[in-house]
Amino acid sequence: MRKLAIFAFLITISLALYTSCKHEPTQIYTGNPADTTGNNNGGNNNTPKSDSVCFNTQVLPLIINNCAMSGCHDKITREEGLDLTTYSGIRSIVTPYSMNSELLKEIQRTGSKRMPPPPMAALDTAAINLLKKWINQGATNKICIDDCDTSSVKYSTHIAPLINTYCKGCHQTSSQGGGIVLENASQVQSQIVNGKFLCSIKWTGCSNMPKGGSKFSNCNIRKFEIWQNAGFPQ
Ligand code: HEC
Repeated sequence: MRKLAIFAFLITISLALYTSCKHEPTQIYTGNPADTTGNNNGGNNNTPKSDSVCFNTQVLPLIINNCAMSGCHDKITREEGLDLTTYSGIRSIVTPYSMNSELLKEIQRTGSKRMPPPPMAALDTAAINLLKKWINQGATNKICIDDCDTSSVKYSTHIAPLINTYCKGCHQTSSQGGGIVLENASQVQSQIVNGKFLCSIKWTGCSNMPKGGSKFSNCNIRKFEIWQNAGFPQ
């Protein structure tokens, strides 16, 4: 019942938002109706309440960010025949419950053979631990609904978690997709003010972002607009 109320609320917000720009298609993200675990909607960030790792909101964006940039393991290049933008692609280099999984070996190598290859940054400990945890839990395709809370939007609580999960791997100093770096609040702010940021996450004519991933829910897109309207609070 509460979910229904939240959903109705989101629709109202979306409609209100889109009446001013009628030419844009309104897409309402409903998540995966097949997921009935009830564990998915907690927290303020993108982290689920339950301790089990979500494939779509945690593992996939991490891999896309660090392995599927163009020229690497994206749908088009498929370096070494490997498309790492799908569950089956990623599973082809993972053995459930095995810490000897190919994926873990590649990201933990030292020197030039490491993935992603230098000068790109290596995955940090938190990212490696998340992948280990996912593999230890059986490397399942658990689908979670993106949590979405648009009350008192701030960089630290609302924007940074999205950027870090979905964008930063391809937009950091050592790997600047389109020459754009999104490592801190002021860089994100200036892209919103001067750049194609909103157009790229709304998929309205710029390069669609997150590149190779799914479009953000309307509510997540709305967070960036609320943040801008509020004067970019930290
Ligand atoms: C897999 C790598 C990758 C991911 C993930 C990614 N980007 Fe990009 N981004 C790129 C590349 C490469 C370009 C250069 C244009 C192109 O190739 O499409 C780019 C371009 C852009 C542009 C300029 C768009 C234009 O039309 O000029 C913006 C803004 C942007 N990204 C924002 C983001 C945001 C926000 C996210 C997260 C929601 C994100 N990107 C996720 C690789 C990525």
